[in-house]
Amino acid sequence: MHLYPLIRPFAFALDAETAHRLTVKTLRLMPPRRPPNLPASLRTRVAGIDFPTPIGLAAGFDKDAEVAEQLLSFGFGFVEVGTLTPRAQQGNPKPRLFRLRRDRAVINRLGFNNGGLPAAHGRLQQDMRLPGIIGVNIGANKDSQDRIADYVNGVRAMAPVAHYLTINISSPNTPGLRGLQDEGALEELLSAVQDVRAKKPIFLKVAPDLDQRDPERIVRAAIDHGIDAIIVSNTTISRPRLRSRHANEPGGLSGTPLKPLALDALRRFRRASGGEMPLIGVGGIASAEDAWERIRAGASLVQLYTAMVYEGPGVAARIARGLARRLKREGFASIGEAVGTERS
Ligand SMILES: Cc1cc2nc3c(=O)[nH]c(=O)nc-3n(C[C@H](O)[C@H](O)[C@H](O)COP(=O)(O)O)c2cc1C
Repeated sequence: MHLYPLIRPFAFALDAETAHRLTVKTLRLMPPRRPPNLPASLRTRVAGIDFPTPIGLAAGFDKDAEVAEQLLSFGFGFVEVGTLTPRAQQGNPKPRLFRLRRDRAVINRLGFNNGGLPAAHGRLQQDMRLPGIIGVNIGANKDSQDRIADYVNGVRAMAPVAHYLTINISSPNTPGLRGLQDEGALEELLSAVQDVRAKKPIFLKVAPDLDQRDPERIVRAAIDHGIDAIIVSNTTISRPRLRSRHANEPGGLSGTPLKPLALDALRRFRRASGGEMPLIGVGGIASAEDAWERIRAGASLVQLYTAMVYEGPGVAARIARGLARRLKREGFASIGEAVGTERS
């Protein structure tokens, strides 16, 4: 049932943030349903977690963990909620979310608008009774005096109600946040988080806008501090050639124009890690072909967000089925077997 093409013109007639809010409200009213049956060949184990499919919803859609169950019911193999900060915050002034339709892209400078950790905690406690996999993406408050303490608080509070936690130091919309990717700060952050993780897997989410030597340095720090996977990548502050009128809005760019940058960043992280660190590919994935390319380039899992804006939540199951066909056609028995098999 492809309802989304019918709904999309109405959603696109609204400004992007109003449409998003309305979508989340509508999803909240949806009665629980069972996820679609997806091919067993897609089951894959990463960081000790059994994922039913390798296609997840990226952070930022369900910032406050309001509709994780409904999103899982569309066939996402996992849903990452957040970014959540210790205290609720408003984010940047509106407008701050723009569709770039001709580019199949989005620019956002939301700035971690969210209701804070305590409000999401109760909802996630309920969600943990579900069979689906839910990750919690953790950030720092904009006005925080001690950002590392914010991550420590986030990991400590949310470890009991998450299958994994993501340390997000790659949002371009909180001034100075990406500075935590720098050498000394990263070491300090990762070792502080280690102490409170309560055995839960920790993923680190990085930006695509990195210098030549950054991947090697980040991979080394991640391995040294027992990080379980690196998510490559967040949105870009760069501006490849774009055609839409919002092209010059400040913020992070996602969707199709991010694809070559995110793929290139993934390949650099794969080279730097030599397969030692699981990688999660994100950025401009909109088809089974895109997911397959990312897996061959070294991703054990993939995530998407912007493709759902343009194609609706059915995109998760469509990509999953296409991926299973591709896997079979290429003669692989599992996703794990195909990871990193592209010829360089
Ligand atoms: C509107 C919007 C909000 C986002 N918010 C977050 C966020 O809160 N935390 C985060 O780690 N990433 C956030 N992202 C980044 C996505 O998780 C993802 O890394 C990025 O959009 C690239 O994937 P895509 O091209 O499939 O959208 C956001 C992206 C968009 C479009």
